[in-house]
Amino acid sequence: MKILLTGAGGQIGHDLIGALVAGGHEVTSTDLAPRPPSHAHAGGESWQRLDVTDGPATERMFEKVKPELVFHLAAILSARGEKDPKLAYDVNQTGTWNVLEACRKTAVKRLIFTSSIAVFGPPPSGPLPDPTPDDVALHPTTMYGVTKVAGELLCAYYTKKFDVDCRGVRFPGLISAAMPGGGSSDYALFMYVDGVRKGGYEAFARADTRIPLMYMPDGVRALLELSMADRSKLTRSIYNIAAFSPRADQIATSVQRVLPDAKFSYSPDPRRQAILDSWPKSLDDTAARNDWGWKPKYDLDGMSDDLIPRVRRMLELGAILSSH
Ligand SMILES: NC(=O)c1ccc[n+]([C@@H]2O[C@H](COP(=O)([O-])OP(=O)(O)OC[C@H]3O[C@@H](n4cnc5c(N)ncnc54)[C@H](O)[C@@H]3O)[C@@H](O)[C@H]2O)c1
Repeated sequence: MKILLTGAGGQIGHDLIGALVAGGHEVTSTDLAPRPPSHAHAGGESWQRLDVTDGPATERMFEKVKPELVFHLAAILSARGEKDPKLAYDVNQTGTWNVLEACRKTAVKRLIFTSSIAVFGPPPSGPLPDPTPDDVALHPTTMYGVTKVAGELLCAYYTKKFDVDCRGVRFPGLISAAMPGGGSSDYALFMYVDGVRKGGYEAFARADTRIPLMYMPDGVRALLELSMADRSKLTRSIYNIAAFSPRADQIATSVQRVLPDAKFSYSPDPRRQAILDSWPKSLDDTAARNDWGWKPKYDLDGMSDDLIPRVRRMLELGAILSSH
């Protein structure tokens, strides 16, 4: 199948490209930035520059590639988006509009949208239910969350109105052997990365911070499984998906099972802690399980066991690349 990715140079693109190429697909990876050194070139994949805020360029790219399936990953994540809300609006809001329009105009059959737990925020009536279901009033507290809510609604609108089959997941914070990309859940990934390279980490979150997290292989599999699901089985456009919801100090304990000397402390950054506190503690993903058979494979300790050797290899490779 001909598949195009936007924002392919990021954390998800890194693992998704490999999975798609391994599945025998013809992949066009696009991003504003050149191919990052961490993204090894895979046979059957090409890299093209595309800025999704440029509507005509997006349409030209889709016209040239004629993808049957598009994964729309390009975005400015939550913490970076709060530093530059205008950029977050341009990339996440206008960029998503441009991608949807390009799909409509070039008859792309299916579009996968990557939403986030950042669409949620505390309702005026009290805290979010735990676990948080798909359908609650959405009160995002960040520009990132605001644009993801709009993206979800646009996705459903284009499906109904223009027959662009747009579907997506609300990802928890994703953890993989990559350098963190400016998300508020980055404290979890830093526990692994700095646990390996510095022997410890001072988290910018409280020890009792609890948000939904997921290991990247499960996240990539969710995208693949949803993209191939039979439309007639889908009862909605956007699905909560869940794996595990540990407290920050439980992540530390899980890392210490593998790295017993690693030391962790907690020095909450008020700005980022406020974002984390506005998110659900855990997600109800019953609809994804029922409609397309979603089920995570990794729990927290399973992730730690698999991830720590990968983080070590990533850091060694980074040291080799930067010395050349
Ligand atoms: N990583 C997570 O924990 C997480 C959680 C929830 C949702 N998501 C969503 O998944 C998607 C991918 O996330 P990620 O972690 O790979 O993000 P990332 O920040 O690692 O990568 C985003 C990519 O988008 C690119 N980009 C930025 N502006 C662009 C533009 N104008 N045109 C084209 N490309 C542009 C960047 O160069 C980068 O390579 C995003 O939509 C994100 O909102 C991610």
